[in-house]
Amino acid sequence: MPIHHPKDKPLTVPDTLDAKAITLQKVNFTYPDGHQALKDISLEVGQGEKVALVGPNGAGKSTLLLQLNGVFQGGGEIHVMGLPVVDKNLPLIRAYVGMVFQNPDDQLFSPTVFEDVAFGPLHIGLSPDEVRARVAEALQQVGMESYSERLSYHLSLGEKKRIAIATVLSMRPDILVFDEPTGGLDPRSRRSLIELLDDMEITMLVSTHDMRLVDELFPRMVIMDGGQIVADAPTQELLADQAFLYEHGLEQP
Ligand SMILES: Nc1ncnc2c1ncn2[C@@H]1O[C@H](COP(=O)(O)OP(=O)(O)O)[C@@H](O)[C@H]1O
Ligand SMILES: [Mg+2]
Repeated sequence: MPIHHPKDKPLTVPDTLDAKAITLQKVNFTYPDGHQALKDISLEVGQGEKVALVGPNGAGKSTLLLQLNGVFQGGGEIHVMGLPVVDKNLPLIRAYVGMVFQNPDDQLFSPTVFEDVAFGPLHIGLSPDEVRARVAEALQQVGMESYSERLSYHLSLGEKKRIAIATVLSMRPDILVFDEPTGGLDPRSRRSLIELLDDMEITMLVSTHDMRLVDELFPRMVIMDGGQIVADAPTQELLADQAFLYEHGLEQP
């Protein structure tokens, strides 16, 4: 059954417009080996808000992000645009939430760049012309127009990362969930990515170690450590507290 993206079709769930973009209530998650990676996480992200998720390696950032479109499901309640993240809602939720994984090899699986970026739009049943337009637009947004016929598998990490972003942008998501966007990018790619994120007027929850990125782009910062949220406050307030940042494995930009 094709998914109908809310921007292309009338909203099938009319009462979600006033909802928060993302809410988590007492979310817990334990990996099959018994390691509890999320402990009682509660968090709200308003529509249009740009929130940075920071914390040391192993804090649980990636695990948390992967709950948002149901890749992992644990205890507690998660809502996206007012919809509970449960199996029957996953097709619609995945049309709302564009998720860029930490490792682009988890995102790219087609032979060519064009096919990777076209995959989502094809899957929601858009016409071939519209699919081509979406692919061209998304590749242009990440500055990779000339890569359409290249083989995804052979690209460099930075190139793969930008194509992974394009696979999400081609779906025109309402919420961008991005795991370590600037990791592995050279300075020029990093700068153009920051400009792209700055221009996008959609809700963002972005995990990163790049404190300059946080400083520049994200008014609100959530710090995780040991599977818990240890701070959630205006970025400038938290960045001013050197001792607290240090305690949680972070540095001032
Ligand atoms: N597939 C897995 N199985 C078991 N433990 C895992 C798995 N993936 C991650 N973990 C553990 O869960 C914790 C949180 O990991 P992760 O969410 O990747 O942290 P972060 O993204 O903040 O670096 C870490 O201790 C990590 O080792
Ligand atoms: Mg991670």
